[in-house]
Amino acid sequence: MYNQKVVDYFMNPRNSGRIEDASAIGEVGNPVCGDVMKIYLKINPQSEVIEDIKFETFGCAAAIATSSMITELAKGKTLANALKITNKDVADELGGLPAVKLHCSLLAQEGIQAAAADYYMKRDGKLPAGLSFPESSMSNGGAEEERFVSEDSRA
Ligand code: FES
Repeated sequence: MYNQKVVDYFMNPRNSGRIEDASAIGEVGNPVCGDVMKIYLKINPQSEVIEDIKFETFGCAAAIATSSMITELAKGKTLANALKITNKDVADELGGLPAVKLHCSLLAQEGIQAAAADYYMKRDGKLPAGLSFPESSMSNGGAEEERFVSEDSRA
């Protein structure tokens, strides 16, 4: 089902683990398969370069391989450039994924997006234009708290 490169990235994951003093954490999940991915970022506050990145993934082989690959692609990039990495880039770098496993690479892309959103929410208390928490994110960093409050008060 998987090519040799995917198997290698699954069997020998790069950058697995956690960063204790992470600048930001993105946690995303797919409710259909139940897989969960957590991306930790250590970001240089001046340059916004991702100096370190790690992941913890509880999921299928493709979810682990794609998390592993996206950490390699994002490390050393600015946050803005890391956000340009698409799930297709991740799947291509892995030499392709079976069609039923393409959503695993999407989860990896959204893990970076969720971590970036977490970073800006912690730093600025709001998200920059054009960035949002993905639907798969397990947290919205408090971004929509007001909306929930106002919906509650209407009930
Ligand atoms: Fe859902 Fe891999 S099967 S993330």
